[in-house]
Amino acid sequence: MPLRFKIHLLICSAFTISWGVAGPDYKKDIKPIFEKRCVECHSTKMKKPKGGYKFDDDASIKNEIGPSFLIRPGDPGNSDLMGMVTRANKDHPMPPDKADALSAREIKILSEWIKQGALMESNATASSSALPPRPANTVQEWTNKEGKVIKAVFVKLHGEKVTLKMANKNFEIPLQSLSEESQKLAMKTAGELAVKAP
Ligand code: HEC
Repeated sequence: MPLRFKIHLLICSAFTISWGVAGPDYKKDIKPIFEKRCVECHSTKMKKPKGGYKFDDDASIKNEIGPSFLIRPGDPGNSDLMGMVTRANKDHPMPPDKADALSAREIKILSEWIKQGALMESNATASSSALPPRPANTVQEWTNKEGKVIKAVFVKLHGEKVTLKMANKNFEIPLQSLSEESQKLAMKTAGELAVKAP
């Protein structure tokens, strides 16, 4: 069975949890999982955190978020982190000891957080497609995978799609069609807007 499918099955069989419209919050829902399940072996307090990963350091975690990193925003099925915690990744199940495996609920929370963009800023007031978009009104340059550059205003990031505004018209495009740098810019801008929200 392909890895992605297996993870999908696991996530579907987990019971449903409700977060209202906002989805899991990094500080409230995600950090406690890392602290409880990972920090024992992956801490800034250690001389040699296992594999060099530090799950009690926001800056280090942030470095693991990106289209080709451990945590792929909008794409839990292809995020290595999910393969590790679901133990579908046989080489690096995390935590290594099966007795410490994450619960279905913890897996579901991590997966949902990644699906909604893996934002590290509080999302209580942002990132929900139910909320009206709040344009930052700053024109930025965006490059797609083919190297074509456009100038547009970021509107919102929702799942694997990003909405940009050009000439007062909204365009919805797959995040994956942007260059890596522009994908990062979209995530960064989404995070900044989340912080600035009233
Ligand atoms: C009991 C100790 C322990 C715990 C708890 C633990 N890990 Fe690990 N982790 C290790 C060890 C040892 C390695 C290095 C060997 C390996 O890669 O299997 C490692 C390696 C890793 C790597 C690098 C894998 C690679 O590709 O080289 C990642 C990522 C990781 N852990 C994530 C996590 C996450 C996320 C958690 C919590 C859900 C976690 N670990 C919990 C011991 C632990």
